[in-house]
Amino acid sequence: MVLKPGLEGVPVTQSSICDIDGIKGELRYRGYPIAELASKSSFLETAYLLIWGNLPSSQELRDFENAVQMHRRLSFRVRDMMKCFPATGHPMDALQSSAASLGLFYSRRAIDNPEYIYDAVVRLIAKIPTMVAAFQLIRKGQDPIQPRDDLPYSANFLYMLTEREPDPLAARVLDRCLILHAEHSLNASTFSARVTASTLTDPYAVIASAVGTLAGPLHGGANEDVIAMLETIGTPDKANNYLNNAIAQKSKIMGFGHREYKVKDPRASLLQEFAEDLFARFGKDEMYEVAKAVEQNAGPLLGPRGIYPNVDFYSGLVYRKLGIPRDLFTPIFAISRVAGWLAHWREQLSANRIFRPTQIYTGEKNRTWKALEERANN
Ligand code: SDX
Repeated sequence: MVLKPGLEGVPVTQSSICDIDGIKGELRYRGYPIAELASKSSFLETAYLLIWGNLPSSQELRDFENAVQMHRRLSFRVRDMMKCFPATGHPMDALQSSAASLGLFYSRRAIDNPEYIYDAVVRLIAKIPTMVAAFQLIRKGQDPIQPRDDLPYSANFLYMLTEREPDPLAARVLDRCLILHAEHSLNASTFSARVTASTLTDPYAVIASAVGTLAGPLHGGANEDVIAMLETIGTPDKANNYLNNAIAQKSKIMGFGHREYKVKDPRASLLQEFAEDLFARFGKDEMYEVAKAVEQNAGPLLGPRGIYPNVDFYSGLVYRKLGIPRDLFTPIFAISRVAGWLAHWREQLSANRIFRPTQIYTGEKNRTWKALEERANN
């Protein structure tokens, strides 16, 4: 048996959802290039495409949007439960707990019933943003506000979060960010979702386990750490020194590197464009100059090893300009990635076998039991 740490290069499933060419820097959902989706589609349309496999007709899209709009509200029991969460807790932990709690309300494990599947998809896509916004207000000591039926998906999320109707450019940029983050083949959280799905548990448990996996700093959580790193660097002239020190100490540069891409992540290039659109309209962020200096200086240091900016490098700067607090960056990634997780949940169930890999045992064999009084103190 050959051990493959991190399962690098080990195919564990077949999938027709998302295709990455890590050498050319290309990403497609269901065959459509990511840049085309980000400019022409909406998040809900892209979610439909990912989950059901094809672009919706106008009637299918209207029905899906209406269903999502109808299910945005949270039960008062979920809101009351969230009010008991510590205000100092991380919003990803609040989201994981709240998402899991939906299983208490809706679980019937009827995962071979198309109506149950459609309803679960709609509920999760509809309620996850409301949960993120609700926790934000609750931790400030306020009551969550109700969704507004006249606002589309992303505009409504910003409204629930900030209590103000957002500028249309801000809402469109957020919607485009959600498209970019919606799916990325067999990343850690999606693998987690598929492993959980393979036990035939309910979709709320599938999403809750994926949220927990996304939270880590090697995965979705890196977007928070990027801003912290840029602030530590402070000014563009200090970027090179910071990079050299970090590389000498074998520290990771947050927002850089990717298992699949050996070039700049195409999503990072698009997010950089979105950031510039926002800066042109709402004013610059001085950390953007620092980020550009990090990318430029990292080129000769890390580029030859195929280490370039990934999706998390510029996303934080975009969210910051939208007025979103730093610890909500990863929950926003989760709002979007729910679409990909659900697509993989359905795909996993369509040809399921429980995940049960093997291991190479390296522990002791055949030890002799010693009574407690015979054991030496260590
Ligand atoms: C996401 O998989 C996905 O698709 C994920 C994602 C998605 O959409 O779902 O794209 C979202 O998770 C983006 C990644 C966010 N994480 C970070 O930005 C954290 C910093 N990056 C890394 O820790 C790392 O690059 C990973 C976790 C992204 C990838 O890890 P791998 O493939 O296991 O690579 P590795 O850690 O084994 O590194 C290989 C080599 C090492 O050097 P050597 O020991 O071989 O000399 O590359 C070096 C690493 O030290 N390296 C880095 C680096 N990333 C890799 N060196 C400095 N800075 C970095 N960021």
